[in-house]
Amino acid sequence: MPTMCDYPQQFEPDSLGSFSDVHNFSGGPGALPQIVLQEAQQAIARAPGTNISVLGVSHRSQWFRDVLDETEDNIRDLLNVPSKYRVLFLQGGGTMQFSMVPMNMLRGAGKCADYLTTGYWSEKAIVEARKEGTVNEAWNGKANGFCDLPAPDECNFTPNAAYLHYVSNETVEGLQFPYLPGLQEIPRVCDMSSDFLSRPIDIGSYSLVYAHAQKNMGPAGVTIVIVEEEVMHRAPENIPSIMDYRLFAQHRSNYNTPPVFAIYTMMLVTRWLKGTVGGLVEMADINRCKAATLYKTIDESDGFYRCRASKRYRSNMNACFDLPTPSLTDKFLTSAERAGFVGLTGHRSIGGVRASLYNGVTLQAVQNLSEFMRWFRSQMDNDDRAGVRNG
Ligand SMILES: Cc1ncc(COP(=O)(O)O)c(C=O)c1O
Repeated sequence: MPTMCDYPQQFEPDSLGSFSDVHNFSGGPGALPQIVLQEAQQAIARAPGTNISVLGVSHRSQWFRDVLDETEDNIRDLLNVPSKYRVLFLQGGGTMQFSMVPMNMLRGAGKCADYLTTGYWSEKAIVEARKEGTVNEAWNGKANGFCDLPAPDECNFTPNAAYLHYVSNETVEGLQFPYLPGLQEIPRVCDMSSDFLSRPIDIGSYSLVYAHAQKNMGPAGVTIVIVEEEVMHRAPENIPSIMDYRLFAQHRSNYNTPPVFAIYTMMLVTRWLKGTVGGLVEMADINRCKAATLYKTIDESDGFYRCRASKRYRSNMNACFDLPTPSLTDKFLTSAERAGFVGLTGHRSIGGVRASLYNGVTLQAVQNLSEFMRWFRSQMDNDDRAGVRNG
């Protein structure tokens, strides 16, 4: 009888010395395109057009100004960002935005802000907003184990709220909004940390969107904010400078030392999206195809693999699932890692398995994972027949 170790090992480095056969399904920082990793590697030795490493380039140099400008231009092109929006490169991750948004848009506004609590990350966001003003929780899915999102007519919105905040893709639970929640007249603020640049969006439907880089567009260290100019200027004066969007806009994202390498790598990813992939419509097609491949494997497993998220709101970015028992889940994760599928451990708050299918994950990687999942299940069926599964 075959054993778990029979699955073909995939740990051989390729001719470039990179482990391109090891598939990274990590929740973030996540996989980046191989070509981007190679270009970034070369820039660490010597940044193109310079004699030095990208790690030692001054943030005040013209070289870096050009990098910032190209990255912004590429993002504007990819998303068709209207001129009344500013594109800012900040630090502090998604978490800093949980505070920065209400400091700029709720503090002193004399209104409440609406928040949708749809999972782990939106729960964190609302805690910070409450420190800045009055918050109305327009929906909370905790009682349902965060397995579902609200239907469009299920939320208790405030007609004159300062803004509505929601998370477009709950990375931990694997839930993604397929529609735009909220009232038309209320400014929409969205945490897109785990699906930004994975599909086209209509920026005009939002007052502010934010996303850290480390899922779909680069390494950790840089966070994108796209904000409507007029909304940005409504902020009160009494916020710390480092938390003030206006200052970053005024200094064209070079107020204090920005993460030069992270922004450079993001520029490479945006070039790849525009050039190799062909744009966000094409990227979204690939991402949909990857998700469909994996969910098909799950759905055809007769309940061996089980998604927690309700089918209509399943995420194209994070497929979260369980096996029949915790010990089988552990066995699966160990066996997968040995076979070259890494980063599949579910978030520490809920456990299970999470396959993150960010832009840098190839369709081939997902097909290989699906193949592995079918093989693993067949092994367990064999064990069952032989009476050796120990639960
Ligand atoms: C949707 C979402 N928002 C916010 C965060 C927090 O981001 P950071 O760790 O960059 O602060 C995460 C982290 O993974 C996330 O997935």
